[in-house]
Amino acid sequence: MKNKSLSKWFRPAVLKMKGYTPGEQPSDPKVIKLNTNESPFPPPAPILKAFHYVADERLRLYPEPTADTLRHALAEVYDWPVEGVLVGNGSDEILSILFAASVGKGDLVQYPDLTYSLYPVLAAIREAKTKEVKLNEFFHLSFEKFSPNARLTFFGYPNPPIGNCYPLDEIEAFVVKAKGLVLIDEAYVDFADTSCLELARKYPNVLILRTMSKSFSLAGVRLGYVFAHPDVVEQLMKVKDSYNVNRVTQAAGLAALTAESLETVHKNVKKIRFERDSMTEALRNMGFSVPDSHANFVLATRQGHPSAESLYKNLKKKGILIRYFSHPRLKHSLRITIGTPEQNHRLLTELKKLL
Ligand SMILES: Cc1ncc(COP(=O)(O)O)c(C=O)c1O
Repeated sequence: MKNKSLSKWFRPAVLKMKGYTPGEQPSDPKVIKLNTNESPFPPPAPILKAFHYVADERLRLYPEPTADTLRHALAEVYDWPVEGVLVGNGSDEILSILFAASVGKGDLVQYPDLTYSLYPVLAAIREAKTKEVKLNEFFHLSFEKFSPNARLTFFGYPNPPIGNCYPLDEIEAFVVKAKGLVLIDEAYVDFADTSCLELARKYPNVLILRTMSKSFSLAGVRLGYVFAHPDVVEQLMKVKDSYNVNRVTQAAGLAALTAESLETVHKNVKKIRFERDSMTEALRNMGFSVPDSHANFVLATRQGHPSAESLYKNLKKKGILIRYFSHPRLKHSLRITIGTPEQNHRLLTELKKLL
């Protein structure tokens, strides 16, 4: 039985909301894990060396409060003014900071009906009004359906769980009209051909969110960053925790931006893009509909028997974990993270048997 005092301890909005459901993290290392869009490749060598270097008696000291050394390195690599860079404990933290700084009870927050499922959770915490714009049957977003008056607008570029990128001119036309902030979540952009960074240079209401969790193979380290107008970052800085990015993560981030690491990331991205395109073709040949993906995952849809849910469950029994969502629009779909060539081969072989 639930404790009767909960209603005296927590806000009604929190009591009635559902929390975010993260993808499973199995403890068995033998599981082929293609469910949370991590990289199948190890982090570049300089990052692993940086952990040894940083793990000494200095851990007793607080880290740089605003991670300025790392911000400068990011500013240099991505050619962005350092005052317009904010670093977070994963890009998830930056999303929380943005909500805390920008959204009050009843403010309008909008996003596509299919996108990163953390946005609605953060909106519920802040008791925001929400508008979900339905993607069409080809997963295209009609930007004219977004309200120009929303406090915050979110979408992914590429947008999960599909992996498609919306046309830059359509995004720009919306950004020009939008009175509020527009956060373009570029968690997967390194696997795409284009980015929206130039839009943020032109328009002060655009924020570009990035992470080292995917292409940099650092999901376990928790490091995200945002590129925005310095005036915007100044407000976000007020809301973040004093030492939001720990010492070890800051050192890893710096090591990730060396020429050697960037070259390894680039090579890994190339391999994943190649594997993604082969996976897309193989799944289409099996009768799945698979939109072109510009990310490190694909969304495969197929109606009939066996159902997507049973394919997911049976693959899991064979030690292969992919993602099945309970969302009504995704009940015939499976989201598959691109793994190593061997992992992808195993998945396709087992899937073929199940069909
Ligand atoms: C679109 C999108 N944004 C943000 C994140 C969170 O990334 P991070 O690990 O940096 O918190 C994810 C994680 O899967 C994601 O898919």
